[in-house]
Amino acid sequence: MERSTTAFSFSLLASLALGFVLVVRAQQNPGFISIDCGATNAYIEEENNIAYETDEGFIDSGNNMQVSTEVIYENNLQSSKNVRSFPNGKRNCYTLRPDQGKNKTYLIRAIFWYANYDGKNQTPQFDLYIDVNYWATVSYSTYCYKEIMYVPQAYDIQVCLVNTGNGVPFISALELRTFDDDIYRLRSGFLQTQERYDIGLSSKSFIRYPIDVYDRIWAAQNYDWSTVNTTAAIDLSDGNDAYKYKIPGEILRTAQTSMNASIPLYLQWTPSISLSTKKWIVYFYFVEIERLTSGLQREFTISINDHRFTKTVSLEYLKPVAVVSSPVGGSFITFSIESTNKSGNPPILNAVEFYTVGDLPNVPTAQDDVKAINGIKATYLIKRESWQGDPCVPSNYTWDGLNCSYGNPPRIISLKLSSSNLTGDIVSSLSHLSRLEYLDLSNNQLSGAIPETLADLPHLRFLNLSGNNLTGSVPEALKKRVMEKTLNMSLTGTAIPCLADPCPQKKKKHDILIPVVASVSGFLVILFGALAVVWLSKRKQIAESNKRTLRLKNRPFKYGEVSRVTGNFGRVIGEGGFGKVYHGTLDNGTVVAVKMLSESSKQGYKEFQAEAQLLMIVHHGNLVSLLGYCDDSKHMALIYEYMANGNLRQHLSDATNRGPAKGLDMEQETTNSCGCSTRFGLFA
Ligand SMILES: *[C@@H]1O[C@H](CO)[C@@H](O)[C@H](O)[C@H]1NC(C)=O
Ligand SMILES: *[C@@H]1O[C@H](CO)[C@@H](O)[C@H](O)[C@H]1NC(C)=O
Ligand SMILES: *[C@@H]1O[C@H](CO)[C@@H](O)[C@H](O)[C@H]1NC(C)=O
Ligand SMILES: *[C@@H]1O[C@H](CO)[C@@H](O)[C@H](O)[C@H]1NC(C)=O
Ligand SMILES: *[C@@H]1O[C@H](CO)[C@@H](O)[C@H](O)[C@H]1NC(C)=O
Ligand SMILES: *[C@@H]1O[C@H](CO)[C@@H](O)[C@H](O)[C@H]1NC(C)=O
Ligand SMILES: *[C@@H]1O[C@H](CO)[C@@H](O)[C@H](O)[C@H]1NC(C)=O
Ligand SMILES: *[C@@H]1O[C@H](CO)[C@@H](O)[C@H](O)[C@H]1NC(C)=O
Ligand SMILES: *[C@@H]1O[C@H](CO)[C@@H](O)[C@H](O)[C@H]1NC(C)=O
Ligand SMILES: *[C@@H]1O[C@H](CO)[C@@H](O)[C@H](O)[C@H]1NC(C)=O
Repeated sequence: MERSTTAFSFSLLASLALGFVLVVRAQQNPGFISIDCGATNAYIEEENNIAYETDEGFIDSGNNMQVSTEVIYENNLQSSKNVRSFPNGKRNCYTLRPDQGKNKTYLIRAIFWYANYDGKNQTPQFDLYIDVNYWATVSYSTYCYKEIMYVPQAYDIQVCLVNTGNGVPFISALELRTFDDDIYRLRSGFLQTQERYDIGLSSKSFIRYPIDVYDRIWAAQNYDWSTVNTTAAIDLSDGNDAYKYKIPGEILRTAQTSMNASIPLYLQWTPSISLSTKKWIVYFYFVEIERLTSGLQREFTISINDHRFTKTVSLEYLKPVAVVSSPVGGSFITFSIESTNKSGNPPILNAVEFYTVGDLPNVPTAQDDVKAINGIKATYLIKRESWQGDPCVPSNYTWDGLNCSYGNPPRIISLKLSSSNLTGDIVSSLSHLSRLEYLDLSNNQLSGAIPETLADLPHLRFLNLSGNNLTGSVPEALKKRVMEKTLNMSLTGTAIPCLADPCPQKKKKHDILIPVVASVSGFLVILFGALAVVWLSKRKQIAESNKRTLRLKNRPFKYGEVSRVTGNFGRVIGEGGFGKVYHGTLDNGTVVAVKMLSESSKQGYKEFQAEAQLLMIVHHGNLVSLLGYCDDSKHMALIYEYMANGNLRQHLSDATNRGPAKGLDMEQETTNSCGCSTRFGLFA
């Protein structure tokens, strides 16, 4: 008893503690996503107070690995001690879904420390993609990171590692930070961090969270200039122009100046070859941190490659100013900060960020398609190596089983999920792939009925549902399209009457549902439509011969009699392509279904007549038998034996016991479950 109480209190404490940790984490780093890739549990990094999670829920693929024990001590950060590696698949993607949604600026940082985790002692090289666009090539032997400022166009952000054949991609950590304000934003493209300097800082090697609320990593930088610092508080109220950048006071309190007012501050460099084609954008941060004799103000201009790009910058004591350069390119880049003649004080620089501009040439797949295909993936638990990241883009990483059209935006036009172990119903998300032309779901264990919503796909022209455990009938709207020859449909091996050509020849052992009259007649009409051309050429002969058959086998009814047996058309049991179907009882007690050609459906007359003729020559177990007809120029009716939806095998075994059931052609039934193609052979 005591023991269990203790155990209980312990687990209660543990869960309370866990809850506490989770709450702390949520409150601790708002707007952060911090993933320790390959880690086995969540924790708070002591060095910077950042709460890291495992990569569960962010990615489905890859293996957890630990860096080599020989070097593990070289890096204190817990997040660098594990990696997730991706030996399988060309592209593996993390999916980040920040609470703040799309059209916000996010800092996204991918961190890599190879540290011989695989014992091969060979640093791999691979590509990094942000959503559908190339971000960087990664090939580091030391701890390193790639960082961008990115404004996503969708709620999900995908960071993908692409195997380029130069070793297995891996990642140590992935971090996302959210900016509250509309900063670091370009009209198009993204900013890639090259350097971020805290000028004049001497004590530490770098500053990040929690000092910088946005967790930018500032490296100490000291040029060959004069260093100045202050302990006074920087004015970080929202009245000043640099406020929204939230550069910490600690960073702004140190600075460097030139020796005297007649010497400008020069920054010049030759970008490395890989960056020489890029445009650069520089963010300068200035604060007056020296008390100048009254009346004197630090005042300067900024030039890039000798072109002045700002008006004069005048500084007020402790009030920060942010200046963003225009994009500049070239093999040699110079910035100079030069005092005006009036100033009398040397130019100052407190902090600076260098970015290159990354292009976003690839447009992602239409969001509705992405949502739909992800819904399908989730519903059917589809696990395929390539089913990660954007479904269509880049085109050489299109998901296996999809084909896309590459307009703006790209769309999914074909989906092949045959033999993919799909179970359950045909999911309605399929009907949201609105440009779909080709859909193959054959050879799965899909059950239930064909959803009507599939007819919402206006471009669908191929639908293969063969080899599934489907029941019911084909929705009218789809039937219509098969009949109009705008859709090819296969239902082989399902319990649904076949509408397509070719039809199966194989023996069917499953239970078969006998369709209601309305669907059978629709089905026949569609078959008929498919061969209408052939039929038209032969119609005269056939009509002649069948008229005789009709007369021989079936009794003509008068309209009055039809009206009487249906109780004056009192009970509608279905509706077919050309009119309503009524319940009736013949004088001898036989229950019948009476199909009337509606008077409005004039063009249906030929097909209606054809149906009667067809039924005379096609005897099929799935079809109910025709008992009579009525054709008195004004009214046309077909009178069938009535069968409720039922089990055909049951009918057959009943028939064996009591002799063949009326109108069922036993021989046909046992050899062919569908019969369309053989019957059509006969017709054509
Ligand atoms: C995105 O945000 C910017 C700035 O907040 C705004 O000007 C723009 O209209 C937004 N665009 C969309 C598509 O919401
Ligand atoms: C500020 O300057 C003083 C004197 O030059 C120096 O001792 C101190 O380390 C500096 N402080 C910082 C934070 O760089
Ligand atoms: C500024 O410094 C330079 C180089 O040290 C020197 O030649 C020049 O005379 C100085 N100018 C003033 C106004 O002090
Ligand atoms: C300072 O004055 C000199 C000559 O008087 C002039 O050539 C130069 O352009 C001025 N510089 C600035 C930054 O105004
Ligand atoms: C995919 O296409 C990109 C851009 O065209 C190319 O750089 C890359 O090598 C291709 N990858 C593969 C695996 O073909
Ligand atoms: C996609 O297109 C290729 C080439 O045209 C074709 O071979 C393949 O069968 C198509 N796949 C699907 C799922 O339609
Ligand atoms: C389908 O399931 C079977 C048995 O569970 C498995 O062997 C097979 O690999 C699966 N096929 C696919 C395409 O997932
Ligand atoms: C439909 O799928 C089945 C099974 O995958 C296949 O045998 C059949 O050829 C397909 N039908 C058509 C018309 O492509
Ligand atoms: C087909 O579905 C029915 C119910 O809809 C189920 O009873 C039967 O077991 C299924 N057959 C197979 C082969 O999955
Ligand atoms: C249906 O299949 C036939 C024969 O393969 C083809 O000629 C026809 O164009 C297809 N119809 C549609 C709508 O794709």
